[in-house]
Amino acid sequence: MKRREFLQNSAAAAGLLLFNAAPPAFSQTADARIEVVLDEPLGTIEPNVYGHFAENLSGVIYDGIWVGENSKVPNMNGIRKELVDEMRKIKPPLVRFPGGCFADSYDWRDGVGPIDKRPRRTNFWNGEEAAAAPDSHRYDPNRFGTNEFAQFCRLIGAQPYLAANLRSLPAEQFYRWVEYCNSPAGSTTLADERAAAGFKDPLNVRYWGVGNESWGCGGNFTPQEYAVEYRRYTAWVPTYQHNSPNNGELAFIASGPNDDSWDWTRGFLEEIVRKGKSQIRGIYGLALHYYAWNLSRGRTQGWVEGKGDALNFDAVDWYELLREGDRMQGLIEGHWQVMGEIDKQHQLKLVVDEWGPWYKPGSEATPGDILEQMPTLRDAVFSGMTLDIFNRHPEKVAMANCAQLINCLNSLYLAHEDKFVVTPVGQVFQMYAGHQGGQAVPTIFSAPSITYQRDGKSATFWGLKGSASLDDRMLLLTVVNPDLSQPRETEIVVRGASVKSGQATLLTNPDIHAHNTFDQPNNVVPQARDVKIAGSVVFTFPAASVTALRLELS
Ligand code: AHR
Repeated sequence: MKRREFLQNSAAAAGLLLFNAAPPAFSQTADARIEVVLDEPLGTIEPNVYGHFAENLSGVIYDGIWVGENSKVPNMNGIRKELVDEMRKIKPPLVRFPGGCFADSYDWRDGVGPIDKRPRRTNFWNGEEAAAAPDSHRYDPNRFGTNEFAQFCRLIGAQPYLAANLRSLPAEQFYRWVEYCNSPAGSTTLADERAAAGFKDPLNVRYWGVGNESWGCGGNFTPQEYAVEYRRYTAWVPTYQHNSPNNGELAFIASGPNDDSWDWTRGFLEEIVRKGKSQIRGIYGLALHYYAWNLSRGRTQGWVEGKGDALNFDAVDWYELLREGDRMQGLIEGHWQVMGEIDKQHQLKLVVDEWGPWYKPGSEATPGDILEQMPTLRDAVFSGMTLDIFNRHPEKVAMANCAQLINCLNSLYLAHEDKFVVTPVGQVFQMYAGHQGGQAVPTIFSAPSITYQRDGKSATFWGLKGSASLDDRMLLLTVVNPDLSQPRETEIVVRGASVKSGQATLLTNPDIHAHNTFDQPNNVVPQARDVKIAGSVVFTFPAASVTALRLELS
C-alpha cells in the first residue's frame, strides 16, 4: 500500500468524523499523521494522575527522602533538599505514604511525638533485606512519620495520601489517625499533640487508602471479606467540616484488583452494594495495581523466573516491556466495564496507585537496596506511554501513583548519601507536567506498525501513540515513538484551530540502554527542537523517543 493510501485508510479505520470536513491535505513526505480533535473534549485530566508513591521500603524513605537534620547532605528539616528542588519542577499533585505492603504493618502512633523517643520496629520488608542492609532499612527508626511526611508534602506543594492499616490495626486507630491529622487546632488531645510537633493547624488529609493489596499482603482476604471490612472501617469516620477544604470530606480509596483480576472488582462491588446502592458513594476510588514484570514471552508465569533485566536487554525485550505496559489500557477499560455492571452511573473512579516496570535485582544504583532498579530510556518510553493512556481516559482515572518515587522500581530519582540524579523517568514527568488539569482532547494516530522477529515468528507493535490536552489556547501533545530504527516524519493537524507557533522537547538516545548515573547524570536529558509550521505542522519523532510538543493555537 502506498504511503498516502495507508494514511487515508487509517483515518477511515479510526472512525474519523471527516464527512463534513475538507479533505485532509496530506504532506508529501510524512509517513504518519496525528489529528487532534478540539471540539470533542474527553474531560479534565485530574492533576492527581501525576501522583507519586513513597513506601517505607529499603532506600526510599531513609536515604532517599529523609537524611536527618544533622546530615552533611543539604536538607530542609531533615528532608533532602535536592529532591525538594527537583520535585518542585514537576508540580507533584500528591504523594502516597507509607505503603504499599508496609502500610498494613504500620502503627501511625509510632511515628509521632518527640523524634528521639519514637520506638524502633521491625520493618515489613526486613525478611527481604540482607543482613548487611542499613539498620534503618531493617528496623524502622520511625524518624519519618506523619509530621515529617506532611512537611515533605508542604515543601513540594503536594497533597498527602495516607494508606491506613486494615490488616493489623483496629478501625478505631484509623479514626484516631484521621483525628490526629484533621481535628481543629486545640479541639482534641491529638490536635494538641500535633501542635506540640509544630503543626497547630490541621493537616487536612483528604485521601485515605483503606488497606493495600488486601487480596495479598494486606490481609489475604476474599473480595467479599474485604468489602465487609471496608464498610466497617469507613462507617462514620470522623470528619471536620469547619474551615477545611472540601467541607472536610474524606476520599476513601478501596484496595482494588491486581492486574486483570476482574473477579476482585466484581466480588468487592457486589458485596459492597448488598447494603444498598448508595454504599458506592462511600468510595472515592478503586485502586488498580499493575506492574509490567513478565518478559518471558509466555514461557513462565513465575514471579522470579519471568522477570527481565533492567539494563541487559535486546530489541525484543524492549518491545516486550512496552507490550506488557500497553496492557494498562485494556485493564482500565476492562475494570471500568466491570465496575459499570454494578455502578451504572460510574460514580466510582479508578485510582492506579501503583504502576511501572518491575525487573529482577542487579541494577541497583546503591548495591543492597531492595526493589531498586536503574531506569533507562526504555522506562522513559514506557512511562510516557502509560501517562498517555491515563490522559486518554480522564473520565475513568482519577489518580495514579508511579511506583516508586526514589530508590525503588520506576523511580524518578536515585540518591545515596550526598549523591543524587534525575532518571529518564523523572525527565518524562517534567515533560508531561503541563497535562495536569488540562482538557483532554481526542487524538487520532495513523502510522505504520512496527514488525520484528519474536522467537522466530513475526510480531507487530503500534508505530506511534500519544495524548493531547488543551489549556486555554495552548495544546500539549505528547508522543511516543517506540520504533527502534525508524524516525517518524509526521504531519500534525489540529482540527478546529490553526497553530501559531510551537516548541518541542524530546528525550532520546542512540543507545536504548542509556541511563543517568551519579557519575554521568546527563546521558538522557530533554533536548529542545524547533517546530516547522507551514499550514500544518510537520515534525519528525526520532526512533525510540518521547516528545512533548507545545503548540500555541489561534
Ligand atoms: O511497590 C512495591 C510493592 O508492590 C508494594 O509494597 C505492594 O503494594 C506491591 O505489591
